Amino acid sequence: MSDWINVAKVGEIAPGDHRLVDADGTQIAIFNLGGEHYAIEDVCTHDGGELAGGCVMGDEIECVRHGARFNIRTGAVTAPPAYEPVAKFPIRIENGVVQVRDDRWD
Ligand code: FES
Repeated sequence: MSDWINVAKVGEIAPGDHRLVDADGTQIAIFNLGGEHYAIEDVCTHDGGELAGGCVMGDEIECVRHGARFNIRTGAVTAPPAYEPVAKFPIRIENGVVQVRDDRWD
């Protein structure tokens, strides 16, 4: 479990853009999709590629290494060669600041 981590002030991440944070050693990518923020682990479940640098197409991101796709809102795989979902994390807004935390070990 990690505490809530400040990501950015609301409005600092433009729609379609993202920000990376380190949550106790876990790299988390926070995306703004149409004004809503979503957080997934920045690690492709196929072979460990960094996802955040990939191309965002609608709600999906494509891994630059071999082309697997994931739904940014849910973490679900939408195209192989990955078959396992990527971890997703909760987001909250506190006093105008976007925050994320790793809740996997609660
Ligand atoms: S590491 Fe992402 S598709 Fe292979």
